Amino acid sequence: MNLLQSLLIFLSLVAINDGSSWLTPRKFLRELNDLRRDYAVAYNVPNMHELIASNDLEDILRPLDWKASWPEARKTWRYVKLTSFDSAISSTKEAGDAYILNPYNNTSTMDELELLNPIQRFIGCGPKTEGFRDIEVCLVGTEGDFTFFDTSRNSEKEPGSECHKRYTNEIGLCVPNNKEKESYYGHPQNIFEDNMHWNNGFLGAGVAWRYVHLDTYIKPSIEPALTTFFKKSPAEKWLFIRSNSDATMNSLEFLNPLQRFIACIQRLNTPSFICLLGTEGKFTMFDYSNKSREIPGSNCQKRYRNNSGVCVAINPEKESYFGRQLDFMSDINEIRRRYAKEYRVPNMHALVRNNYTFNELAEVLEPLNFTGVRAQSRKSWRYEGLYSFDITNNHIEADVSVYFRKNRTAKELHLKNLSRKNTMDRLEFLNPLQKTIACGRKEEEGVTLIICLLGPEGNFTIFDTSFQSQATAGSKCHKGYYNDDGLCFLQIPTQEPIIDYRKMADEARTATEEPEPEPVFENHGNKISLGYLLVFLLAQLLFNI
Ligand SMILES: *[C@@H]1O[C@H](CO)[C@@H](O)[C@H](O)[C@H]1NC(C)=O
Ligand SMILES: *[C@@H]1O[C@H](CO)[C@@H](O)[C@H](O)[C@H]1NC(C)=O
Ligand SMILES: *[C@@H]1O[C@H](CO)[C@@H](O)[C@H](O)[C@H]1NC(C)=O
Ligand SMILES: *[C@@H]1O[C@H](CO)[C@@H](O)[C@H](O)[C@H]1NC(C)=O
Ligand SMILES: *[C@@H]1O[C@H](CO)[C@@H](O)[C@H](O)[C@H]1NC(C)=O
Ligand SMILES: *[C@@H]1O[C@H](CO)[C@@H](O)[C@H](O)[C@H]1NC(C)=O
Ligand SMILES: *[C@@H]1O[C@H](CO)[C@@H](O)[C@H](O)[C@H]1NC(C)=O
Ligand SMILES: *[C@@H]1O[C@H](CO)[C@@H](O)[C@H](O)[C@H]1NC(C)=O
Ligand SMILES: *[C@@H]1O[C@H](CO)[C@@H](O)[C@H](O)[C@H]1NC(C)=O
Repeated sequence: MNLLQSLLIFLSLVAINDGSSWLTPRKFLRELNDLRRDYAVAYNVPNMHELIASNDLEDILRPLDWKASWPEARKTWRYVKLTSFDSAISSTKEAGDAYILNPYNNTSTMDELELLNPIQRFIGCGPKTEGFRDIEVCLVGTEGDFTFFDTSRNSEKEPGSECHKRYTNEIGLCVPNNKEKESYYGHPQNIFEDNMHWNNGFLGAGVAWRYVHLDTYIKPSIEPALTTFFKKSPAEKWLFIRSNSDATMNSLEFLNPLQRFIACIQRLNTPSFICLLGTEGKFTMFDYSNKSREIPGSNCQKRYRNNSGVCVAINPEKESYFGRQLDFMSDINEIRRRYAKEYRVPNMHALVRNNYTFNELAEVLEPLNFTGVRAQSRKSWRYEGLYSFDITNNHIEADVSVYFRKNRTAKELHLKNLSRKNTMDRLEFLNPLQKTIACGRKEEEGVTLIICLLGPEGNFTIFDTSFQSQATAGSKCHKGYYNDDGLCFLQIPTQEPIIDYRKMADEARTATEEPEPEPVFENHGNKISLGYLLVFLLAQLLFNI
């Protein structure tokens, strides 16, 4: 659990409570669990679980017509017909003892033996009629296959020694640590725990996150899909990914190695869930050819380290869906330096969060909403919106390189085209004359963006991209700025409490720990970040899908 807890930080809005059950009598259930324990002790069954009354199973059962066939059975539940609850315990014991003497196979149901399947954990019963007779039918889940314990009496296993996660041995029977938290549909927090073996060695829709729709949370809703995928031929796999990657790859989304955050929510009055995964908007699959020579965990992102082949956040509470501004700034300045050198830009300035005496832009940004930002920009600052500090680092260069690849006329056209808007998009980050930057999260109508203000220039300037420049990068820094390897940095005034952002940024690049809490864009931790993610979810998914 530790591993995934730190890998995928969860926010679960809905506590999933299976609720109390009305139709499964307590006395019957108590006696049935006693019987299960008796068999567990008598036959050294290591994994006999207590059956918990499940509202969800009762809900599944209620609309089912006993006269019809039930093709939905035997996937995540099985069923048994009982003449009455009063006779059920003795008939179950009879069936069990008979089977032990003389085992058999039936296709649709194994009758009362279903109640002795050691690995079932939930039960939900309800009345049905057969001809003129009232009968009781019980569903047991979450297993679709019939499993019986070793009846040979040769088992040397300890009763209750192989319990499900979150269950402990109680006199031979595996009982849940917290009954309230167990549910037929599973709990969001357990989804990865329950699917742990898929993690061996790898561990807005399409923009900064992707989504998955699950019919239920439990294992069976994910596993078959994955098995089906991995059984396909290489060509089929390729086709499958190509034809679905614009929408959702469903369960495969959980295997996207680059995703780092997840949030799930249950849809109202249904057993189904929607999960969002971020911060990748594009679907990426690992090399599934079985020919990769890479070492699992060898290419972790910074601040993540290899743990059993999975890249795990060193400091999960410091990771945030929206990324970290400090990293973002050091990356942006690296990009600015690279372009300054490549295009011989003499006056490319480093962006700092403030100029050591003022934190003006941050104060400007604070009270503004989207409309205000748009209206007030282009005087002493300009702006650009981002989905996340993280994706920007990956995608900013791809965006600007579209511009740089164009010929002169196409570039002019591009700029002219953009200038009709209030912002020149990602090119704003390459305006050489900008010196300060302040970013903050803004939310409007369910959309959350990171807005960055860049100052002091209100007009957009782009450097000479013709490769005609004879200048040297960093040779024309403004007064008070010095050339540091092609980029103009503010002279640090002496005798002042100095925060050297450059040094901090450098350190952040190599260090694993954030040197100081961020003053402007506070890292509120994942709860809030994922809270925002869930705003997307609620606003855009629940109502529109
Ligand atoms: C029941 O079926 C299973 C799987 O098909 C088989 O392994 C088992 O031996 C069968 N048992 C009996 C008693 O026929
Ligand atoms: C299951 O098999 C047993 C033994 O073959 C048979 O007596 C019983 O009627 C079968 N039950 C069902 C529901 O088919
Ligand atoms: C991958 O290849 C190895 C041997 O090269 C083989 O043992 C293993 O079963 C293969 N795994 C899959 C999933 O095909
Ligand atoms: C990551 O950890 C796994 C398991 O401990 C190990 O097999 C693998 O070699 C490690 N990867 C690197 C790059 O060290
Ligand atoms: C910092 O910004 C303020 C306000 O824009 C300005 O008055 C001051 O001169 C700047 N300081 C430096 C060292 O650039
Ligand atoms: C944005 O802020 C302005 C001024 O504070 C306010 O008048 C306007 O209604 C706000 N717009 C929205 C969409 O909230
Ligand atoms: C510049 O590029 C545009 C579109 O890419 C193209 O149509 C145009 O012919 C090019 N102009 C020159 C002078 O190469
Ligand atoms: C200019 O913008 C319009 C719409 O905003 C777009 O359709 C068009 O392709 C753009 N032209 C260039 C050259 O980028
Ligand atoms: C920005 O551009 C406008 C129009 O070209 C010009 O009038 C103004 O002086 C420019 N502002 C600065 C600060 O250069």
